[in-house]
Amino acid sequence: MTAPFDFAPLLAPGTPPPAVKWSGFPKYNFIGGHNDAKHVPVEALIAAATNVLKREGATLATYGLNSGPLGYRPLRDFLAGKLKGHAGIECSADEILITSGSMQGLDLVNSLLLTKGDTVLIERESYGGALTKLTRIGANVIGVPLDDEGLNLDLLRQKLEELKQRGVKPKYIYTIPTVQNPTGAIMGEARRRELLKLAAEHGVMIFEDECYSDLVWSGTRPMSLYALAGGEGVVHIGSFSKSIAPALRVGYLVAKWEVLSRILALKQDAGSGALEQMVLAEFCTKHFAQHVPKLRQALKMKLQTLREALAEQFGTSAEFGDPPGGIYLWIKLPDNVDTVKLGQAALAAGVSLNPGPEWSTDKDRARCRLRLCFANPEPDTIRKGVSVLAEVCRREFGVPLRSSNVEKR
Ligand SMILES: Cc1ncc(COP(=O)(O)O)c(C=O)c1O
Repeated sequence: MTAPFDFAPLLAPGTPPPAVKWSGFPKYNFIGGHNDAKHVPVEALIAAATNVLKREGATLATYGLNSGPLGYRPLRDFLAGKLKGHAGIECSADEILITSGSMQGLDLVNSLLLTKGDTVLIERESYGGALTKLTRIGANVIGVPLDDEGLNLDLLRQKLEELKQRGVKPKYIYTIPTVQNPTGAIMGEARRRELLKLAAEHGVMIFEDECYSDLVWSGTRPMSLYALAGGEGVVHIGSFSKSIAPALRVGYLVAKWEVLSRILALKQDAGSGALEQMVLAEFCTKHFAQHVPKLRQALKMKLQTLREALAEQFGTSAEFGDPPGGIYLWIKLPDNVDTVKLGQAALAAGVSLNPGPEWSTDKDRARCRLRLCFANPEPDTIRKGVSVLAEVCRREFGVPLRSSNVEKR
């Protein structure tokens, strides 16, 4: 028998710990950015795939189809139109790069700009994936507190001044201004303009991440930062993960060609998956505008179910807002609850949740907070899952004392 080869000594420095093996989804799945299974437009995607493959399938013979390295041209044309109508962004299809999910957009911008020790400003509560990537790079990540409208600009100004005095120039300000992850805040237009002014005063780039902007319940959203800045000093990323399906792995990055050409030089994967791009372009040009409101409606109802279930099971022990869109609810539990420990105990009972510290730069403050994604479980599963979570929380931390208005001892 061949002796096992020990490759541990060969690992590059900074290699993350090994991944754990996947053992299936838990019964009550409240984690990640999973979407509503009933609203994946399967029939229309089948028709789109058939049409586009019959018409253009032979172009799969070449890297980049017949569209070049930025990605399938009809998808970029669709996006240019959608971004103009929806977010106010005036850009040509040649200022849009199709990426393998917006996560690749994050990686590309980080590779372009960051090296170990660089400083970035980020919303104190933010996307866990972005935080993990920054930690891995060894960036100095400074969290800026949020309020109901997102980034608190007085505190941002203070941080920028402090950094300036220390001779530190942050590489970018990363923000999720439209349905913030995890708080759900939407930054109004006046604050967006002020943010751009402040960033320009300090010569700091804005990195705008917008993957939830299609999921605003009202169907309208403020103009994007990219649009308000005319694209100057802003890189914008987005995704089809939350509006169609995350498993497709299709996102996009918008930047002025001067920046995009440098990012494109770093995207050394010979193009993102072409079939997904073709099918999406075919589907979206015909159906995106009708599909999204239906998805939004379903998600809004699920949020309502989750809020009701939490109120019933946790009473005043759980504090949460009423987000104007998206797929997450950010919740505060009593101070004695450690959501990392709660997460472990809940998982053993079949409930997965995202503990607050993974979603915040202030781990102590976030210790009693958690994020629940309500998009994937069906309403009945949401109700049962929250009831199991309340039971686990009571057993481990003694709260909530009452569930369904019945005292529990
Ligand atoms: C703010 C934000 N950005 C980026 C992503 C990555 O999404 P994807 O790579 O699926 O487009 C997520 C996923 O949840 C997110 O919440």
